[in-house]
Amino acid sequence: MPNLTVVGAQWGDEGKGKVVDYLARSAGVVARFQGGPNAGHTVCVDRNTFTFHQIPSAILSPKATCIIGCGCVIDPYVFEHELAVLRKKKISPGQRLVVDCRAHMILPYHQQLDRLRDEQLAKQRIGTTGRGIGPAYADKVNRTGIRAGDLLSEEVFNDKLKRNVAAANFLLMDRYKAEPISFKATAHEYWQATRRIARMVGDGSRMLEDALRRGERVLFEGAQGMHLDIDLGTYPYVTSSTTWAGGVAPGTGISPVWLEEVVGIAKAYTTRVGLGPFPTEMNDADAERLRALGHEYGATTGRPRRCGWFDAPVVRASVRHNKLRALVVTKLDVLDSLEEIKVCRAYRLEGREVGEFDPFHAAELEPQYETMPGWREQISGCRTFAGLPLRARRYLAKLEELCDCPIALVSVGSERSQTIPYKSRKLRWLR
Ligand code: IMP
Repeated sequence: MPNLTVVGAQWGDEGKGKVVDYLARSAGVVARFQGGPNAGHTVCVDRNTFTFHQIPSAILSPKATCIIGCGCVIDPYVFEHELAVLRKKKISPGQRLVVDCRAHMILPYHQQLDRLRDEQLAKQRIGTTGRGIGPAYADKVNRTGIRAGDLLSEEVFNDKLKRNVAAANFLLMDRYKAEPISFKATAHEYWQATRRIARMVGDGSRMLEDALRRGERVLFEGAQGMHLDIDLGTYPYVTSSTTWAGGVAPGTGISPVWLEEVVGIAKAYTTRVGLGPFPTEMNDADAERLRALGHEYGATTGRPRRCGWFDAPVVRASVRHNKLRALVVTKLDVLDSLEEIKVCRAYRLEGREVGEFDPFHAAELEPQYETMPGWREQISGCRTFAGLPLRARRYLAKLEELCDCPIALVSVGSERSQTIPYKSRKLRWLR
């Protein structure tokens, strides 16, 4: 049975939530392998819109068991909120939602430290989501983190928390001149807030291994995007986890030898939230127009997203690193009204032409564009590739050629049904 890894091929917000929802209909198990509530996966089903930050968006597939893998960080307040929204819609995850005992917890001081640090960095700030992601992963790597499994014993939890609150208060008072937090109040409130999660704690790694051995269809759901990866992204303007397919094994606790194929999600243009290099960023007027057409505001923070033309060398780098078998191109309909559409095919760097995004020289890369005519027609009602206007098909063919990767699916709207199979047979998962 196939298994499939889904990753973002750009800087996040590619529409992974919708695509995962589409692909997960046939999955037995879906696992998130990194990130936390910095992600915002929006799914529209039967005129209901859900935005998931913490819980895998596949929870809407009634058959799928969802695992929050050991590479994730968890904010219990966000988690509880999402469960409450699901309950309101009469969706009960029951036994279908499992939190790996090794996943790390986000505590209130992580958020405080995240915001204070980014503020203090001033001009060098990253523009984080302020959700405590960096400090939670820093505790993990410092070997002082509190894990989901620690929520099973109040004594263990309190011991670890006491030590961490002391360390956090030192930073808060000494470095940031902020108010300290109370151990007693934090311990009491957090313990209460995590009672439901504690009942979902299990061995996600073992469950996945068993599911793979039984031959179940397993989907690995990435968050953020390739170029926000801690190692391969535009460091330091990145998130604190491994966002490309290389993160699946350490982020779920299975052998990498199990992994079969990877699909990359790419928007038909490019966006980025937060600071950092963005070679194909548009001028203000064009960006504003595209932002309005594509509703490009962050699902987590509501911040306006920076907008730019499709950057093939950025996606090509994702194709190579992840060995992508296919792409899914999303939000093609957002380009419907444009007279002309630009695509970056390569860059100039010190008089040479460069075909792949190079984060080390990102600031010096000069995009080389091809301009294509727009199709000036509404395509959100199209359901077949042949039904798309010729110019839209030519645009997609150009993206395939420049990225050196076939396109399996095209998305022309936020509803599950607004998904057009194209070279879908390239993916074993869709055969
Ligand atoms: P952090 O993950 O909150 O530490 O933020 C680090 C960088 O990653 C910032 O530029 C964020 O805007 C960006 N980022 C984090 N999560 C997402 C996401 O889900 N989509 C897009 N950008 C993100």
